[in-house]
Amino acid sequence: MSTPLALSSSSLTAPVDQGELNGFCGLIEAMGITKCAQLIADFGIADALDEVPATAAEVAARTGVNANALVRVMRYATTFGVFEEVGAGQFHHTVRSRLLRSDHPQSLRGSMRLVGPAWTLFGALDHSMQTGRPAAEAIVPGGVWEWLSASPNRAQIFDEAMSSKTRGDVAALLSAYDFSQFRSFADIGGGQGYLLRTVLDQVPEATGTLFDQPAVVESARERLGNRMSAVGGDFFKDSLPRAEAYFLMQVIHDWDDEHVLMILRNIRSAAPPQAKLLLIELLLLQNTQSARQGYLPPWARFMDFALLAFSMGRERTRSEHEKLLDASGWHLERVVRTESFQWILEAVPA
Ligand SMILES: C[S@@+](CC[C@H](N)C(=O)[O-])C[C@H]1O[C@@H](n2cnc3c(N)ncnc32)[C@H](O)[C@@H]1O
Repeated sequence: MSTPLALSSSSLTAPVDQGELNGFCGLIEAMGITKCAQLIADFGIADALDEVPATAAEVAARTGVNANALVRVMRYATTFGVFEEVGAGQFHHTVRSRLLRSDHPQSLRGSMRLVGPAWTLFGALDHSMQTGRPAAEAIVPGGVWEWLSASPNRAQIFDEAMSSKTRGDVAALLSAYDFSQFRSFADIGGGQGYLLRTVLDQVPEATGTLFDQPAVVESARERLGNRMSAVGGDFFKDSLPRAEAYFLMQVIHDWDDEHVLMILRNIRSAAPPQAKLLLIELLLLQNTQSARQGYLPPWARFMDFALLAFSMGRERTRSEHEKLLDASGWHLERVVRTESFQWILEAVPA
């Protein structure tokens, strides 16, 4: 039988070796990695480098940034795999730097650009620590959605980040789930409609309705495919489209339980009896072991932390999702793992 470890003050203050001290610096440096990658995304640095290696001065001339700053940014970026420095101060693309290009089919540039607004929100996290309320409320009383809609530039960065995130996930969703069983889809809080468009490309007989806030839907309108329609409204109170399958991707993680129940009940009242609800969310797993390579913590833990800054939402476990579904007239039938960080929780009317 093991005895509880009694920590004496000497074990609390025992010296650690130099390796631990050096490793600890990684916790401080993480901010530099993120900020550096965001600068590269924001200033279009990866877009300005083509297949021919170029010096930082050449890339600076193409992008209008300061050459002395850029060489330091690019050199630092090479240490975490974004660009590679080849001979004579010239930089070359790597897999990671290509993912920061706008024209890459799996581009994550939009997701990285969201670090800019998130940086501002993280700066107000003291407010969350003291009150448990979103940091965004310390910036704008109406919270994150009001803060985003107050600035077209910020709103555009956010919407593009959502499309970028979905672009990174969509192949994994398509290979994990058979969407061809449905003839109509509604994507509730579907942002720019990237998921819906991609699924409709795979299911040529189906039609789809994008539902989101009016301004978001307006900005998505020109990208709608010909089997897609769009409805602007409020998913808490407006009536929702009728469809065989409902997507709700990374929407309920933005809200506390009370608001989640309102959304789920509203979809339930619109849904025909045979409909399916597909919640696409991260899942908090009980163990905190990372499924990712190296030292990185699980993405769902990071997102759960980040949501403190954005909203009253949070990431949830499978059983927390199940309880919310049960309480709103849905029954969780199965949970499908995908190769991305997303899971598909399939629910049917109870
Ligand atoms: C985290 S984003 C997810 C977007 C998209 N489903 C995706 O995964 O890419 C949440 C979405 O909910 C929408 N939203 C927030 N409040 C809403 C409301 N009251 N009514 C309708 N949509 C809303 C936002 O505009 C945003 O597009």
